[in-house]
Amino acid sequence: MAFGSATQTLAPSPESPADNAEDLRSETIDPCPPESVVTPNPYLIADARIERAWAHWKKLGEPKLIVAPMVDNSELPFRLLCRKYGAEAAYTPMLHSRIFSENEKYRASEFTTCKEDRPLFVQFCANDPDTLLEAARRVEPYCDYVDINLGCPQRIAKRGNYGAFLMHKLPLVKSLVEKLACNLNVPVSCKIRVFPDLQDTLNYAKMLEDAGCALLAVHGRTRDEKDGKKIRADWKAIRAVKNALRIPVLANGNIRHMDDVKSCLEETGADGILSAETLLENPALFAGFRTAEWVSDSEDDIQDGKLDQADLVVEYLKLCEKYPVPWRMIRAHLHKMLGEWFRIHPHVRDDFNAQSILSFEFLYDMVNRLRELGVSRPLYVKNT
Ligand SMILES: Cc1cc2nc3c(=O)[nH]c(=O)nc-3n(C[C@H](O)[C@H](O)[C@H](O)COP(=O)(O)O)c2cc1C
Repeated sequence: MAFGSATQTLAPSPESPADNAEDLRSETIDPCPPESVVTPNPYLIADARIERAWAHWKKLGEPKLIVAPMVDNSELPFRLLCRKYGAEAAYTPMLHSRIFSENEKYRASEFTTCKEDRPLFVQFCANDPDTLLEAARRVEPYCDYVDINLGCPQRIAKRGNYGAFLMHKLPLVKSLVEKLACNLNVPVSCKIRVFPDLQDTLNYAKMLEDAGCALLAVHGRTRDEKDGKKIRADWKAIRAVKNALRIPVLANGNIRHMDDVKSCLEETGADGILSAETLLENPALFAGFRTAEWVSDSEDDIQDGKLDQADLVVEYLKLCEKYPVPWRMIRAHLHKMLGEWFRIHPHVRDDFNAQSILSFEFLYDMVNRLRELGVSRPLYVKNT
């Protein structure tokens, strides 16, 4: 359902916020003190805010397995596919707060949701508190957190002055968080990268919590550590953040299969994990499936899971027929999910790339062609 039309069926009226929308405003004393009232004890008020952050998280069922935000990749059909295979919550792709506020066409094509798409984090990049609030107000009836992207390390974020390029503009970051915490009916969350120096990371995380952030996702790589396949995320730094904060903390980085999920939760103490790259190849990750890449010869308790990436592509395409998204997103997912298959039959990939206009008929035929060529790349599961 497109965001524009969702208002008819999903949006509560401004007077009656959604059930799960916690009003953090009234008890957030530090960021937004009430005017002309005797200021209550800030420690008690901060305690109340932390309690509300936890109550909200618990009400959502304390999701542990979460689809990370991915530009052009964590869109509605993909989120729904991951949810079918075990994801307990999901982030939208990063949305640009200024364009989102100004441009209806952008809103309609880049943010779609439906009632099964919960719990949901809607993520924005921003560098202006009022613009961010305007964008956030449009989505708050449809989501469980409005998230601020403080981790994007790409050149476009440097040019646009957002994401990880705000890591050295802490007063601005603080004002973004406070603006949402004081004015929205849903809690604000943030996603950060770590600093090279642990103490800087801890100070940053603490500042976010004090400003009203109700949940923090920590990607355990620095702004310069862009290659997630080559550089391991620092789970120890995430552990230190978890120990230093009182709000729920999510860990991000190094999740390739469910054994990693278990180790990550144990080693970081985090309340949940986010996965990005691995899910793109294997949206069934959270249901215990793994690609052959993550099966070692020494493991004898692994078997064919009777599901493969072509099955997942077909499911994904059906979801895209039901919930239309731009073709560029579909194209990107097919390359990721069928990457191994294309390596075996590059002429099928060349044919796919040559299509300037795609159709569902062509894509279903392409999957059939790969199958007829006898490719089999099963996903594996552990016998438990
Ligand atoms: C295709 C792609 C798009 C991404 N887009 C976003 C984004 O919109 N917002 C964000 O905070 N992080 C984004 N990321 C980063 C991921 O959310 C995640 O932090 C990073 O990939 C590390 O997780 P991983 O090791 O599981 O891949 C993106 C990553 C990928 C691969």
